[in-house]
Amino acid sequence: MCGITGYVGTGRASRYVFEGLKKLEYRGYDSCGIAAIDGRIRVKKATGMIDEIEERINLSELPGCIAIGHTRWATHGGVTVENAHPHLDCSGTIAIVHNGIISNYKELRKELEKKHRFTSDTDTEVLVHLIEENYKQNLEEAVINALKKINGTYALLVISSEEPDRIIVARKESPLLIGLGDGGNFVGSDVSAFLAHSRKAIPLDDDEYAVITGNSVEVKSIITGKKLDKDILEIELTEKAAMKEGYPYFMIKEIHEQPSTITSAQNIYPEEIHAVAEAMQKAEKIYLAGAGTSLHACEVAEYWFSKIAGELVVAVDSSELENRAVVDNKTLVIGVTQSGETYDTLSAMRFAKKKGAEIGVIVNVIGSTATRFAEYVIMQSSGMEVSVAATKTYTSQLSVLFRLAIELAKLEGKDIKVIEEEFDSILDKVRQVLSIEEEIKGKADSFFNVSNYLFIGKGINTPTAEEAALKLKEITYLHAEGMSAGLLKHGTISLIDENMATVAFLPSDIENRAKMLSNIQEVSARDGRVLIISQGKVDEDEVISLPDTSELLSPFIFSPVFQLIAYYVAVKLGRNVDKPRALAKSVTVE
Ligand code: AGP
Repeated sequence: MCGITGYVGTGRASRYVFEGLKKLEYRGYDSCGIAAIDGRIRVKKATGMIDEIEERINLSELPGCIAIGHTRWATHGGVTVENAHPHLDCSGTIAIVHNGIISNYKELRKELEKKHRFTSDTDTEVLVHLIEENYKQNLEEAVINALKKINGTYALLVISSEEPDRIIVARKESPLLIGLGDGGNFVGSDVSAFLAHSRKAIPLDDDEYAVITGNSVEVKSIITGKKLDKDILEIELTEKAAMKEGYPYFMIKEIHEQPSTITSAQNIYPEEIHAVAEAMQKAEKIYLAGAGTSLHACEVAEYWFSKIAGELVVAVDSSELENRAVVDNKTLVIGVTQSGETYDTLSAMRFAKKKGAEIGVIVNVIGSTATRFAEYVIMQSSGMEVSVAATKTYTSQLSVLFRLAIELAKLEGKDIKVIEEEFDSILDKVRQVLSIEEEIKGKADSFFNVSNYLFIGKGINTPTAEEAALKLKEITYLHAEGMSAGLLKHGTISLIDENMATVAFLPSDIENRAKMLSNIQEVSARDGRVLIISQGKVDEDEVISLPDTSELLSPFIFSPVFQLIAYYVAVKLGRNVDKPRALAKSVTVE
């Protein structure tokens, strides 16, 4: 986790870096800091979210044309000013910001403490003292020699007042991109850090480092020291994507963007979808690997591959793939990851690659790590998602996965015309759901007044129930569980009382509707309150009625409802909707 950014050029560096940190705050937001050079290194850091600490980090006290900054999600050491980055060496002439984990920091620290003065509990601080230890006259050499002594993962930026024209940056398993600007160059954990000033980026790969000055960028291999020719990525994203445009929170803006993001997914070139479907047809075993919301998209897709294409495709929690899957050179593993940086999903993909499997990825963030080592890449093109809670990228992942199931079914000669046509018109139904926002808000106000919730669904809406529970939990901090309605009676039903309410997703399909209604009766019979989110009318007290679709497409209809419920409950409880406590948008640690 954590976001890092830097600038070197002719402009006021600390201002560019502060702007960049605001964009990267979704990666962690418990503290932040900046180091700038103007004759000497000056550092400002504070705990709290960046908007709250703007005054305390007085940028007028950070002059100079070179600066680095960091926004933190604590791993080693508590949330304190001392543990916030940047960290300095003993002489105060070298500063570092780091995203990643130095796994052998304890041994290194023990040794370094004999000569160096430590001021934090972080793993990162060992690095800056190691660089100090190796520094003769050349910062680049000192950084590379220090990196050879550490184990772990890093994206790091280093500056020194002895060489105030350059930033040394390096990467291993944590994202880092260089932004090429006029009059100066940038670096950031993702392109949003410099998008306002540069649309040309050089993504670093693992084991690469770069020396960046105001008018040059030299990328080299950490292992061989050889200079590398890197492609320049032209970024098409507009900066508008990172603005709220009149909405109070990014989450609600992003919920409303779904008609357009589903359209983008529907417009992905058929050739890209076809190539992956062909790889699926060839493979003997297929796994979809994701985490959190992306895992739920994989689980929904498992039903599509089975019901539409007649193929067994297994959805796996990416952190468990290595423990659970049977992977060989006849296997295809498709990572599903909005950020393209989730540690668990990248590890699963790397593990599968080592075993000889083919690797695909469905991903949103341009230039992210996942896009750089998968054989098949489908960009979902949902635009930047800022809110920590994934909403538009979920229904976009669903759209891509649905198209894959359809394509695979076609390759296998199945007649899927009816469902394919229905998917083409799903947008109207999604718009209809968004148009009853006020009614949904009313239910969020009236029904959600206890502290425990069960979400239940059947078949393809079992993952819908799981995702609804996740959404509510992560932004309201209320307790929720999602499961199949059938599972309820095997234990969980004993929890139902006046403090445990149930939300049921009721599809139009007669068979599963009847089964769900009978499970709902079992809850009511135990005096449990139930809110029914139903396709079509139902004769019960607490109901939100939605347009009909075939059951296979119902996750598209239910999703905006539970997203809006979670959003309005969080607003009612006064939560920080876009930045819930203890979370970060990209989970880049194990
Ligand atoms: C979603 O609301 C969560 N914030 C989280 O579960 C997220 O989906 C998960 O961390 C996976 O992220 P990814 O899609 O970027 O890999």
